Amino acid sequence: MDKLIIVGGAVLNGDIRISGAKNSALPILAATLLTGEKMRISNLPHLHDITTMIELLGCMGVESSIDEKMTVEIDNSNISSYCAPYDLVKTMRASVLVLGPLLARFGAAEVSFPGGCAIGSRPVDQHLRGLEMMGAEVDISGGYIKAKTNGRLKGAHIIMDIVTVGGTENLLMAAALADGETIIENAAREPEVTDLANCLVAMGSEITGIGSDRLVIQGKEELHGCEYRIMPDRIETGTYLVAAAATRGRIKLRDTDAKLLESVLQKLEECGATIEISENTIELDMKGKKPLAVTIKTAPYPAFPTDMQAQFTALNSVAEGTSMVTETVFENRLIQTHELNRMGAKITLEGNTAMVTGVERLKGAPVMASDLRASASLVIAGLVAEGETVIDRIYHIDRGYECIEEKLQQLGGSIRRVPS
Ligand code: EPZ
Repeated sequence: MDKLIIVGGAVLNGDIRISGAKNSALPILAATLLTGEKMRISNLPHLHDITTMIELLGCMGVESSIDEKMTVEIDNSNISSYCAPYDLVKTMRASVLVLGPLLARFGAAEVSFPGGCAIGSRPVDQHLRGLEMMGAEVDISGGYIKAKTNGRLKGAHIIMDIVTVGGTENLLMAAALADGETIIENAAREPEVTDLANCLVAMGSEITGIGSDRLVIQGKEELHGCEYRIMPDRIETGTYLVAAAATRGRIKLRDTDAKLLESVLQKLEECGATIEISENTIELDMKGKKPLAVTIKTAPYPAFPTDMQAQFTALNSVAEGTSMVTETVFENRLIQTHELNRMGAKITLEGNTAMVTGVERLKGAPVMASDLRASASLVIAGLVAEGETVIDRIYHIDRGYECIEEKLQQLGGSIRRVPS
């Protein structure tokens, strides 16, 4: 298992390119199952999870070829299996996103039941409830979700009990080939859901309310192939902005979109950053100032994203003042605080809130990555800590950050990867 070694103290300065969004690439790759025609998806990020999704499609009979610019051509005309096996699903929960498309196009799907993970129990009841409302028979046995339908799925009026990104995506894809109109109320409004909906429209879907919490889909008998470019990764964008703010640096991010992360940019301004945006760039400059502590509370989009919470906790650890960080989306997503405390942070937990008192300096230490965004927070902490930080189990980081050490080196960070 590789490790990252970071020597803290460098002020990040420079510009880098932002990759395509992992969390819209995954559902969009699953959505290619909705057509037998060729699909061409560009701006895929070069990440383990993307490779896993392509491997999953491959074991169903999907043929694909990927070029050096991470554009994939997909041919779904010869699907021979409707199964997402345990071995792949256990490594990536997002595999459950093939359930809706398989069921809608082939009337059958078997997907290994995704378990919980480090950040919470993560049930999929909302995905299954919606599919049942559309006429699917769902049975859970042997650790698998076995779903089938007699003929096409039927349009339905679905009011989601809670806001779920994956649940909305699965039902949106299922509805695209259902018979009649489907209305999804209390839908997730995350930009990744919008990116998926835009891709479905490019495949011939008729969807209104895109970007709102009420999606109306007129199901089609079939969809066609298309070319689609994945949007920029708003969480990768936010992570580098926070890293620059924590080191009191200056950074320019290219190929991104400020409209995707307004709540995050507002918090960065509150912490003292000067931010300038153009159509596809964001510049942040701390002008050498120490960041001010900012209080945050995570909630579904457009509120502050749970996927940026850990990074802001690291920023608050070295900021001026005290702050409260409240996590409301996942039940166990403040785990990074224990590792941050090992580096000298002053964080106490009260239920789902972390009380953070900024310290003058963190101290480098050996630490352990526990999930993707928690790992990113340890990288940020390592960049501002005195001395050396060694981060173990960095496979978590590789799931969501393309070439993280190269990008940080380009910004002047002292970071290297070593095989353990
Ligand atoms: C997506 O996960 C993202 N993953 C997550 O990104 C992100 O943290 C999350 O949305 C919230 O924004 C992908 O897009 C691949 P949810 P998802 O369904 O879809 C509960 C990252 O670091 N829930 O919106 O799994 C659930 O337990 C990650 O890149 C149910 O109770 O999240 C959670 O508490 C990790 N029943 C809440 O809803 C359900 O049927 C939100 O989960 C579904 C979800």
